[in-house]
Amino acid sequence: MQIGKIQFVISFFILNFLLFIAAIGQEIEVLVEKPGISLRGLSVVSKKVIWASGNKGTVAISTDGGNSWSWKTIGGYESRDFRDIEAFDHRTAIIMAVGEPALILRTTDGGESWKKVYENKTEGMFLDAMFFYNAYHGMVIGDPIKGKFFIARTNNGGNSWEEIKNPPAAAEGEACFAASGANIIMTGPKQYYFVTGGKRSRLFSNDQVIDLPLLQGSESQGANAVTAALVDKKTLHIIVVGGDFANDTLREGNCVFSRDGGKTWINPSNKPYGYRSSVTFINDKKAITCGLNGVDISYDGGINWNGISAIGFHVCQKEKKGETVFLAGNDGRIARLIQ
Ligand SMILES: *[C@@H]1O[C@H](CO)[C@@H](O)[C@H](O)[C@H]1NC(C)=O
Ligand SMILES: *[C@@H]1O[C@H](CO)[C@@H](O)[C@H](O)[C@H]1NC(C)=O
Repeated sequence: MQIGKIQFVISFFILNFLLFIAAIGQEIEVLVEKPGISLRGLSVVSKKVIWASGNKGTVAISTDGGNSWSWKTIGGYESRDFRDIEAFDHRTAIIMAVGEPALILRTTDGGESWKKVYENKTEGMFLDAMFFYNAYHGMVIGDPIKGKFFIARTNNGGNSWEEIKNPPAAAEGEACFAASGANIIMTGPKQYYFVTGGKRSRLFSNDQVIDLPLLQGSESQGANAVTAALVDKKTLHIIVVGGDFANDTLREGNCVFSRDGGKTWINPSNKPYGYRSSVTFINDKKAITCGLNGVDISYDGGINWNGISAIGFHVCQKEKKGETVFLAGNDGRIARLIQ
């Protein structure tokens, strides 16, 4: 009797565990892994063409929807960490390295050869992320130099870059995170929004600076990524994620959203399950976020988040014109969202 009860309890838990595995297995499909490589840059050009970038001078390219991957180590840059990538088709892409010197490279032959399109040896330079509004207009954001954020702009698809003249000032101990190439977005050829962390966490745009009600106050805390959707062609909905990367299970202050272009901010009713480094709207209502301890989805624009996987990823990105989503992270892991 006693043993039967224990067996029942055990099989009940095993059944639940198997159901849990089946549920998560249906949502995230891991496509490839490459131990020792940390991927934080991701660009989903189409359902077929996906590029990822990471440390040790690494770029990975798939032209068949993620079934097969071509891995490249960029000669001469084997020690650089390419934290962000923007690809335009299966041949053309731009990659950005963190650390010194500031560096942006461009390829037009599918990653076979790379041309240096920006370099800056100024001490303390640290580029964090790029964003392209279209094939011509893009921006790159970097940590403050002499108290001002570093922002440069391109209007020729990244072939040349020009620093903006009067970038906004940073507060003491405020900087940007280069967690997923996702802390800057553009909603027009010149309109930008970027988010910060550290001692303070704020949202900056061309003409406003807004305090974010996220966890902040120490070096590992604050906003890591921002995404926006123009709903009904008129209202800008924004989601910002972050938390504390030194404590990836902490859920406090890890996500806020705005439904009025950033004027007022709302806490989710059900927060994501920990520190989150990347977020993207899939459509007006559906959004995905990921971090070191898992992936969550919202079907109501960020009010409620449901954990769908306990596999860690640094970055999630949506296909430019469609809704296909890929994720990338540690151990050279690249996955697809099944939806
Ligand atoms: C490098 O960046 C610094 C700081 O923003 C700037 O003053 C300088 O003009 C830049 N140099 C080049 C070569 O772009
Ligand atoms: C993470 O946060 C939780 C909740 O506040 C706390 O109990 C725990 O000690 C923290 N862990 C670390 C490593 O700071």
